[in-house]
Amino acid sequence: AAGSGSVHDLTDRSVLVSTGGTREPLDPVRYLGNRSSGKQGLAVAEAAAARGARVTLVAANLDLPVAPGIDLVPVETALELQAEMDARAAGHDVVVMVAAVADFRPADYAEAKIKKTHDPADPDAAPSIALVRNPDVLAGLVTARGDAAAPLLVGFAAETGDATGSVLDLGRAKLARKGCDLLVVNEVGEGLTFGAEDTTVHVLTRGSDDTVDIGPASKRVVSDGIWDAVVDCLHPTGR
Ligand code: CTP
Ligand code: CA
Repeated sequence: AAGSGSVHDLTDRSVLVSTGGTREPLDPVRYLGNRSSGKQGLAVAEAAAARGARVTLVAANLDLPVAPGIDLVPVETALELQAEMDARAAGHDVVVMVAAVADFRPADYAEAKIKKTHDPADPDAAPSIALVRNPDVLAGLVTARGDAAAPLLVGFAAETGDATGSVLDLGRAKLARKGCDLLVVNEVGEGLTFGAEDTTVHVLTRGSDDTVDIGPASKRVVSDGIWDAVVDCLHPTGR
């Protein structure tokens, strides 16, 4: 499918995309967050809409305009994002998890603003913030699908490569660990990443050793390449 947006190859398909970065509150005015702009997930959603799909975008703290044809579901935290994705996933043909979901959240939420002097016995002390693990939303969707044919589940992973392996090695391992159908591995690091306009990705498919390399290119061009790969997976099985 060399569609790249010129064809309506997602007509009659419904897709659910998550984007943005979750914020995990500490107190009424503070949160732990990440630098994800949500641009890549928005581009994935817009590319799908342009190819004829019905699109729902679960957006964590997205500060960008969204085309009126896209059904927008704003969320803030990982737990809110999980609730929306869990409730909606089964009704869609494809779910793409682009959101940067915080792996951890503060263990406790302070109902009142945390003061600089939080311990009167030690006025100069700084507090420690205990963290707990957030649920893995994508892994939960894999489990919930079970043996059902749909939805096709697509993950995103930003990788730098490290001492344990290259970007692609880490991507292959993550695809196996997550159990999703496709994993889009985004090369990050040294000015390559968050907020940058052009991006390079490698699309890995479960059960295949082939890798589709896309970019460096705009997030929209990369998104169309991702949908080309997804459409190739949808057609053979009739999903
Ligand atoms: N993801 C998720 N829930 C989480 C963390 C991640 O659904 N709590 C999803 C992301 O939306 C993405 C995929 O899992 O589609 C991979 O995210 P990533 O952060 O790369 O994977 P992790 O398993 O969290 O591994 P690590 O951060 O240690 O590399
Ligand atoms: Ca993570």
